[in-house]
Order: sequence, then C-alpha cells, then structure tokens
Amino acid sequence: MKSEIPFLNLKQFPKELKEVLKAKFSEILDKGMFSGSEEVDLFESKLRTLLKSPYVISCSNGTDALELALRALEIGHGDEVLVPALSWVSTAEAVVLVGAKPIYIDTDPSGLIDLTLLDDAVGSKTKAIIPVHLYGKMVCMTQLAKWAKKKGIFIIEDAAQAIGAFENGISAGLFGDIGCFSFYPSKNLGALGEAGALTTKDKELAHKLRTLANHGQKSRDHHLRIGRNARIDTLQAGFLNVMLNYFDLWQAKRKNLAQIYLEHLRDVNWITLPQGTKQANHNLHLFVIQCEERDALKKHLELHGIYTAIHYPTIIPEITPYRSGEEFPESKRISQRILSLPLNPFIGEEEIKKVCDVLKRFA
Ligand SMILES: Cc1ncc(COP(=O)(O)O)c(C=O)c1O
Repeated sequence: MKSEIPFLNLKQFPKELKEVLKAKFSEILDKGMFSGSEEVDLFESKLRTLLKSPYVISCSNGTDALELALRALEIGHGDEVLVPALSWVSTAEAVVLVGAKPIYIDTDPSGLIDLTLLDDAVGSKTKAIIPVHLYGKMVCMTQLAKWAKKKGIFIIEDAAQAIGAFENGISAGLFGDIGCFSFYPSKNLGALGEAGALTTKDKELAHKLRTLANHGQKSRDHHLRIGRNARIDTLQAGFLNVMLNYFDLWQAKRKNLAQIYLEHLRDVNWITLPQGTKQANHNLHLFVIQCEERDALKKHLELHGIYTAIHYPTIIPEITPYRSGEEFPESKRISQRILSLPLNPFIGEEEIKKVCDVLKRFA
C-alpha cells in the first residue's frame, strides 16, 4: 500500500495522550460541571504563565475573541479598521460584525501586513489596526506599536496562529491593546472543538472583556452592558489543560522538522522558503513555501500521497461578501504561489525528507 503523508491528521494523537484526554473527560463528567469551574480558572492561569500576560480571558473561539476585542474598544458604525488583505476571513468578518468598515492593506512578500503602506491608509475614521501574525510569524510589533501610538489608534493583535511566538521575550498578543488567540483543533495549541482567548495588560479592559463574553454580567444577574455568551466550554478548558503539557515538546518538534525542510530544500531555486523560522517570533504554525507552478506542484505531491494546503487561495477583498474593488498586487500574487507543506507533531523526520525528495522531482 502506498504510504500517505496527510497535511494533518488529528487521529494521530499519541496513544498516551488519548488516554489522558479520556480520563479528563471522565473526571469532568463525574464532577458534572460543564460551564465555568476550576478547569477554566486553571486554563487561564496556565495561559497567563505561558504568555506572561497579566490578564487572560478564555472564550468560545478566535473569531469571537476578535469581535469582543472590537466591542470592548467601542469600535462600531462609522469606524474604520485596518486589516491585511491576506488572512483567514475572521479578521475582516469580526470588523463587519460590529458594524465597522475593514480597510484592506496589501501585504509584504511573506504575507504580513505591509507596514510601509499604513500612513496612506490611516484617516480620521481609523480607530484600530488588526495585525495578523500569519503562519505564526509575528508582524514587527515594536515598529507597529510605535506607529499606532503616534497615530492614536488601537492595536488588536490577531494572534490566532501565533501562540508560542515571542518578540524580544514578549508574547504575540501582548504588544497591542488586546490580543486574540484561537485554539481551533489544528492550531499549535488545539482544543477538541472550538475555543479561544484574549490577552490584555489593562485591568479595566480585562474586566470589560470578561463581562462582554458573559452576557455583560459582572456577577450573576448583574448586567452592566449588552454582552454575548462567548464563554469557553469547561470540557475544552479541561482538554486544553492536558494539551498544554505537550506544548513545549511539540513546539520543539515543529522547529526541528522545519529545520530539516530548510536543509533539504536549500538548493531548490524554483521555490521560495519561509523566512525567520528559526527565530523566537515564529512558532512554525505553518511551513509555507512559494512556487510559480503552485497548483501543478500540489497535484504532483498529491499523486505521490503527500497532502498540502493553501492558506489562503483568495484574498479577503476578493471574497464576495467582503469585496472592495481595489487592487492588492502583492497579496494577490502570493495567494497564487503559496503552498503549506505538512508540518505537525505527528510527522516523522523521514516523512519530511520524503516530502522534500518528491518535491525536488517536480522540476
Ligand atoms: C488568522 C486567524 N484569525 C482568526 C481565526 C479565527 O479563529 P477561530 O477559528 O477559533 O474562530 C483563525 C482561525 O482559524 C485564524 O487563523
């Protein structure tokens, strides 16, 4: 039988991990607590330590985190928010959901928001910018924070893909006013369902976010504002507490596998390799190469049982409900060239080498 290399197959969790997760399920089932409880408190406390964040508010998912962040900063109708043209749709979706207008910014050749274009895009209605740490590579936050402060606009970091990435020892999500994380199952820290979190250094904002995620309640039946039910499930918090025990090991594995890719693909001059993957400000969520013949290369790999993905094939301003009519040449160009190779904690070194060998044969 042809041995296949999936892009990501979560059935491949180690047996021991599956047993611990089952035990965690039983423990929560026996306690009969399915909303809130000490699992949620423990998860938030573990995240505070991991991210070195004074405040962490767990929530239902990364998209809700973005929406809650915008609402906490009172961004809505008549306001504009700068977002990169290339991202997962949630980045713009949350802006539209609060009634504000996303102003798309072209990206640099690596897919990150192009900081040189910001001065031309900012206007009197601009209230915030949402930098996206795409593929786990952080936007240069020292530079962006300086710019945003000068312009007097908020920063909401879309750190959905960037848990474990740090710039000068500061975690993604902690340079801006609010940071938003996703624990979608395929993320570096993944739940067994949907989950997310918010980070902030501001006590008042933390309080506001927590109430917004819980029907606007300060405490039971004390509604301060109109909120949402955007709480994390106890089960997901419990599973994430288990997954956190694997986080450092899996991060190290990702770094090691990426290094093998870099060594074996170094001389392949018809692809562009991702930059800065060894640095602390890249968490290797995705290993994204670029190739002129992307679609044919994807097919070639698939014919040899190797599965890849594209993050993302259509830039947001060209997706029907978000259509802007403007041109974003760099984002558009790379959306046609990018290809995410398999990289996850369940792949072996030999499999990565096989991907490289098969890829090279495409020439
Ligand atoms: C860049 C980015 N932003 C936001 C999100 C939304 O997170 P979630 O899927 O948890 O709603 C994701 C997750 O896929 C993402 O990759």
